Amino acid sequence: MRVLVIGSGGREHAVACKFSRSHRLTGLYCLPGNPGTAEIAENVTDIDPNEPGPVVEKARELGIDLVFVGPEAPLAAGVSDQLAQSGFSVVGPSASAARLETSKAFANEFMQRNGLPCPKSHVFTDPDDLRTHITSRTDRFVVKRSGLAGGKGVSDADDPEALLRFALEQIEHDQVVIEDYLSGNELSVFVAMDGRSYAILTECADYKKAGADGTGPNTGGMGSICPVPWLTPEQRRLVAESIVDPTIAALRNEGFAYRGFLYFGLMMTSEGPYVLEYNVRLGDPEAQVMIPLLDSDLVDLCDSILNDRLKDYHVQFSSDVAVGGVLASRNYPGPPDSDKPVELPPEHERPAKTHLFHAGTAIGDDGTLVTAGGRCFTAVGRGVDLLEARSRAYELAAQVRFDGGWYRPDIGAAIFGT
Ligand code: GLY
Repeated sequence: MRVLVIGSGGREHAVACKFSRSHRLTGLYCLPGNPGTAEIAENVTDIDPNEPGPVVEKARELGIDLVFVGPEAPLAAGVSDQLAQSGFSVVGPSASAARLETSKAFANEFMQRNGLPCPKSHVFTDPDDLRTHITSRTDRFVVKRSGLAGGKGVSDADDPEALLRFALEQIEHDQVVIEDYLSGNELSVFVAMDGRSYAILTECADYKKAGADGTGPNTGGMGSICPVPWLTPEQRRLVAESIVDPTIAALRNEGFAYRGFLYFGLMMTSEGPYVLEYNVRLGDPEAQVMIPLLDSDLVDLCDSILNDRLKDYHVQFSSDVAVGGVLASRNYPGPPDSDKPVELPPEHERPAKTHLFHAGTAIGDDGTLVTAGGRCFTAVGRGVDLLEARSRAYELAAQVRFDGGWYRPDIGAAIFGT
């Protein structure tokens, strides 16, 4: 099986690592990949992953049997549609289904028309209407840019003036959605979907704020844990019955073509689970802690998705726990420093049961590894419990050095209020 992974982040590095261990693999390519994936696959850097035509041509040239689309942008651009129309097996939904992520206004309408539990929301296209609405509110609320914003289009600041400023900035780019603020614990739930059935994977929690104890600005995610120790069997049952089942039934009723992974961003409140967002892919950094715990062969799992065999396929996970901490550049989530030389520990000096996934890294002009973005690496540790996994992850994180590099110190310590 010749596999092409589309994307360049830590999620794609984790996915490529898992594919590289498949007994069925005969070739592995990443488009465009990163310096981490270059160690286990061939990076394809001469085309744009968001251009469907060239991606199809490249898949043909490389004799690809299976395409795994990691991020949302190629899905939104129709890469999955065009690959499927050209006869390729592709894990990742159609551009039409990707609107669940690419338009929060669309997702909210979908949830409301299908009676799914979600916060009350209002959609604005006019800045004056937006200002009038915000200044008349006395309760707490959340501001979201409707379209893609790389995890930076949401603010839940407890400061109405800051929220108004943020909302007026966002409406210059796109529609703005104002949602009621819900309190509770956030949970990321991933579902593998084929044309007939689906499988719920092990849950994760994402630590979205930059600072310890959930303080500071929102980021794309500063770390994750998998599984989530506070989730009770009763809550898991409620999520399946009140959120996952009806969402998938609604997608089928509305005729969406969906073979791939669907991500439910949930808020577990005292009144039950609510959907904050859907994403049409695996989460990042969540995939970097979940995929290392996947015992099943990833080619087999993708095959089940593509051939509608999930119903009879048992997705197996290790009983371990994984903790991942993101190493970020100075100033992230603001405009980050880049081009900083990176010092990595040699393999034999790294703690046991760890993985170092690359994201914002590059090979500099002199051939050495440098930083190239906000979130540069994720240090992942596995263990029998959170304590062991966490201590391995942070031991590895401390061995990775670059000027201005920093990480949030409490991933997996404060499991509530992430
Ligand atoms: N962990 C947030 C995301 O993947 O969008």
